[in-house]
Amino acid sequence: MKNEKLKIFVTRRWPDAAENALRAHFEPTFNKSDAPLDKAALIEGFASHDIAAPTVSDRIDSDIIAAGAKGRCRLIANYGVGVNHIDLAAAATQTIPVSNTPGVLTDATADLTLTLMLMLCRRAGEGERELRAGEWGGWRPTHLVGRAMTGKRLGIVGMGRIGKAVARRAHFGFGMQICFYNRSPVNDVDDIKALQMGSVAEVCAGSDFVSLHCAASPDTFQILGAEALAALHEGAYVINTARGDIVDEAALVAALNAGAIGGAGLDVYQGEPEINPAILGARNTVLLPHLGSATVESRTAMGLKVVENACAFAAGQDLIDPVT
Ligand code: DGY
Repeated sequence: MKNEKLKIFVTRRWPDAAENALRAHFEPTFNKSDAPLDKAALIEGFASHDIAAPTVSDRIDSDIIAAGAKGRCRLIANYGVGVNHIDLAAAATQTIPVSNTPGVLTDATADLTLTLMLMLCRRAGEGERELRAGEWGGWRPTHLVGRAMTGKRLGIVGMGRIGKAVARRAHFGFGMQICFYNRSPVNDVDDIKALQMGSVAEVCAGSDFVSLHCAASPDTFQILGAEALAALHEGAYVINTARGDIVDEAALVAALNAGAIGGAGLDVYQGEPEINPAILGARNTVLLPHLGSATVESRTAMGLKVVENACAFAAGQDLIDPVT
């Protein structure tokens, strides 16, 4: 891959192999402390580097993008697939292209979705907390009895790469029936006999688990809201490994605390890493700290994808994973 040792600004630490790959091709500036950078530091980094490589925990607003354009930033190569933290309209206005890292975190995120589903229906979180608190009184037939996952119905909102990977695991691994909502038709799911529904509420009606896999955008903001939640039965579980903004958290907490649904498994939150205290206090939840892509394989591959996109850009070629 040809390049001219462009300067690249990396906002957080990456796995060693990915940082080394970046060093081989570019002149990187790493955030050695790995602490979140404030807006002034982001502005300075964007303005003084040819390429910026932010990630989901950075808010890249129009001021930062304008400062980058005024300085030397010519590409935003996001570390991650989701780009809702970047003002894409501002990037387009400043004619700074944006790339992302699709495909390489599909399996990791799908695996974590199944982890949350199983933890909820088998009450694994409750069990671990009880045991660690020294409160386990021993085996008994009625102790922490959950529900089977095998044979149940899974509703998926957003049937892209990750939604399909979750559906395949659930169908082939657990014999689950699959239905889904997707804004456009989906053709390659005949093997799992998945039914496409016309709305999120239709997916919720009759599903035992509903899992969210759409990108966050103004169109999908709180796509799982009070109306759709009301269509779930009282034992149904909600899983979100996509983005916090696509769930109406207040409506979810109300449904949980009223016993209107069985529980929720969440990996992502509105305004994370701050968590709405009402979620922390809600009934029957399993809460994880945005771990969907957190395998060494995926996190390394995400960095390598940034390198590939940056190298293509440096060589004057089309981006491999263009967002805009
Ligand atoms: C992404 O890539 O958007 C993920 O949320 C990071 O795990």
